[in-house]
Amino acid sequence: MKAPSAYYKPLAIGAPAPFREIPVRLERMIHFVPPHIEKMRAKVPDLISKVDVVLGNLEDAIPADAKSDARSGFIQMARDNDFGSTGLWSRVNCLNSPWFLDDVMQIVQSVGDKLDVIMLPKVEGAWDIHYLDQLLAQLEAKAGLSRPILIHAILETAEGVKNVEQIASASPRMHGMSLGPADLAASRGMKTTRVGGGHPDYAVLSDETGAGTRATFQQDLWHYTVAKMVDACLSNGLKPFYGPFGDFSDPQACESQFRNAFLMGCLGAWSLHPTQIEIAKRVFSPDPQEVAFARKILEAMPDGTGAVMIDGKMQDDATWKQAKVIVDLARLVASKDSGLAEVYGF
Ligand code: GLV
Ligand code: MG
Repeated sequence: MKAPSAYYKPLAIGAPAPFREIPVRLERMIHFVPPHIEKMRAKVPDLISKVDVVLGNLEDAIPADAKSDARSGFIQMARDNDFGSTGLWSRVNCLNSPWFLDDVMQIVQSVGDKLDVIMLPKVEGAWDIHYLDQLLAQLEAKAGLSRPILIHAILETAEGVKNVEQIASASPRMHGMSLGPADLAASRGMKTTRVGGGHPDYAVLSDETGAGTRATFQQDLWHYTVAKMVDACLSNGLKPFYGPFGDFSDPQACESQFRNAFLMGCLGAWSLHPTQIEIAKRVFSPDPQEVAFARKILEAMPDGTGAVMIDGKMQDDATWKQAKVIVDLARLVASKDSGLAEVYGF
C-alpha cells in the first residue's frame, strides 16, 4: 500500500501530475468505431456532434490481421478531427496480447495530446492498473504531454469482479469501469451466449396454488455485478458504466438493460450500433418529470436541511441529496443539449 503522500505524485520525471478529481464530462454513450475500416472513419466528423464519446476499438471484434491497420487508423482519425467537448477514447488490446505494447506506445507518442481515456480490457487486479499507470507516465513524459491520460477498466473476468475494489482504488489515473457481460459470462462459466441483457430461463417461479399455470418472473443476471461495480466506483469517486448490448434487433431490451444500469448509478453505456446512440441519450439523460420534482425539493429546502412535504411525499436532508444528483446531471446534460435544456427549464 502506497503512502498517502505519494498517491498523487507523477510516476515518471516530467509526467503530468495526476488529476485530484476526474474532469466533469457528459459520457452517456461511448460509441465504438472500428478504425481499420475507412468508411467508418469517414463517419467520425458527423459522429462527433452526435455522441458524447468516440472510441476507437482495437480489441475484440477487430480481426487479428487488421490489428495494425486499426491502430494506424485510430491515429489517423485522432489527427484528422477536432473533437471539441466530445471525448476521444481507445480500447486497446489486453495486457497479455501481442498488440498491447505497440497500441499504447504508438498512440500516446502520436496523438496522446488528444486522447482522454484508454479503456483496458480484462483487468484482473490492481497490478494491471499499476503496470499501465507506470507505462503511461513514462510515455507522457517522453511525449511532453501536459494532461494525464485516464484509465477505464472493463470488468469482465471473475478475478476482476473479485478484486473490483482494489482495481477502483489502484491509481488516481482511474476514470471508471464498464461491465463486459460477454467476456464475464465466459470467464464465470455462465451458460448464456447473449451479450448482456436478461435470459428467459433466469427466473423465479411463483408458488403452486392449484390454479393452473404458475407465473415466472425473469430476474436480472447482471444485478449483483453492476451493484458491486457501482459501489466500488462511487466509493472511489469513479464513474460506472454498463457495457455492450449485443442484440441490435431488440431495442426495447437494450433500453431496459440501460435503464436498470442508470437507476442503479451508472452514467452511460456503450453504443455499438447507431440506433443505440439515441437509446443511451434517452436513458442516461434524466427524465424531465423527475428533474422538475427534484428542482422542487431543492427550492423548498434552500440550505438542504429540515423536513418538508411536497405532493404528499416527505423530504429531508437525504432526499435533498438525491434531488441534487438528478439536478446536477440535468445541468450537465443541458450544457450540451439545448433541446433538453429547454425541456428541463434551465
Ligand atoms: C465486452 O468487452 C464484453 O466482453 O462484454
Ligand atoms: Mg470483452
